[in-house]
Amino acid sequence: MAAIGSDLQKAKQLLEQNKLVAIPTETVYGLAANALNAEAITKIFVAKERPFFDPLIIHIADLATAYNYVEHVPAAAKKLADIFWPGPLTLLLKKKDSIPHLTTSGLDTVGIRCPNHPLTLQLLRLLDFPLAAPSANPFGYISPTKAAHVDQQLGNKIEYILDGGEARVGIESTIVGFENTRPTIYRMGGLSIEQIESAIGTVNIEINNSSNPIAPGQLKSHYAPLKKLSVGNIQTIRESEVGILAFKEPSKFIPLQNQRVLSPTGNLEEAAQNLFSFLRELDQLDVSSIVAELVPNTGIGRAINDRLTRAAAE
Ligand code: TXA
Ligand code: MG
Repeated sequence: MAAIGSDLQKAKQLLEQNKLVAIPTETVYGLAANALNAEAITKIFVAKERPFFDPLIIHIADLATAYNYVEHVPAAAKKLADIFWPGPLTLLLKKKDSIPHLTTSGLDTVGIRCPNHPLTLQLLRLLDFPLAAPSANPFGYISPTKAAHVDQQLGNKIEYILDGGEARVGIESTIVGFENTRPTIYRMGGLSIEQIESAIGTVNIEINNSSNPIAPGQLKSHYAPLKKLSVGNIQTIRESEVGILAFKEPSKFIPLQNQRVLSPTGNLEEAAQNLFSFLRELDQLDVSSIVAELVPNTGIGRAINDRLTRAAAE
C-alpha cells in the first residue's frame, strides 16, 4: 500500500528525488516522474511493466511552458491549446533535446498536455521540470479513475498517491498530431472530434487497430479487464453468471447485482466517467465473463466504444 493524501510538498520532494508519485488528472490518474531524468522515467516503465517502445506523454502547467520542450507549435496546435487547455487533449509536437529519448521511445515528437486538475496544476507550478505520466495501471489493464484503483494495483511500487478525488472525464486524453497537411487524431479521448473540428476544421483520423502501431495505447488489445470481455447485445444473454455493462438500461434476464449501468439517463459524459470504474467492479465480481454493449457513436461515445472494443480484443 502506498501513502495516500493531498500533501503537495511531499509529492514535490519525492519527485525531486526522482521517485514515482501518482497524480490525479481530469481524465485518469497518472504515474508521474521527472520527464527530464532518465533514471526517474525508467522507474515508470518498470512499475507499469510497460515496453520501452511505448512513449510517455509529458504534463505541463500552461502553453508558455511547452515552448521550453518543443521546437515549434503549429498554428492549429496553438489554437487547440488556447481553447482546450487545461483539458483532455495531448498534442504531438517536435521535441527539443531537453526531452530524453527514453521519454519518447526514440521518436522525435513528444506528447504534451496541460491537465485540468487543480492539485496537479499546483504541483506542476511548484516543479521546475515537466512530469512524464502514463495512466497509473499495469500495462494493458483498465486505467484508474480513483486513488484507490492506483493503490490496488501499483500501491507497492510507488511512494505516494496524490488524491484528487474521482476523475471527472474518466477516459484518457485525445491525441492530435500535426505531421501531415491536416491535423490527425491518433487516439479518441475526452475531447470529442466534434469539439476539435469546431475549432480547427476537418481533421484526419488515424485510429490504429494493428498489433504494431506507433502508439501502443492503440494496440488492438488494451484497457482490458482480467475476465474475458465481449461486446454485443446484452439483451440476448441468459446465463445468470455473466456480468453485464449496460449503457442506459439493465437486462431483465440477469441478476441486477451482476450488472452496471453507465448512465441511466443516457448521458455520454456520465457514461465515460463511470466506464473504467464499472469495468473494474465487474472484473472483481463473482462473474464468469463480461458482456458490454456499445454506446451511441457520437461525441465522447466514440472514445467509450474505442476502449470497449480494445478491451474485448484478444
Ligand atoms: O489522459 C491521458 O492522456 C493520461 C493522463 C495521465 O494524462 N495519460 C495517458 O498516458 O493516457 P498513456 O501513456 O497511458 O497513453 C499515452 C499514449 C500511449 O498510447 C502512447 O503510445 C502515446 O500516447 N504517445 C505518447 N507519445 C507519443 C508520440 N510522441 N507519438 C505517438 N504516440 C505517442
Ligand atoms: Mg494508458
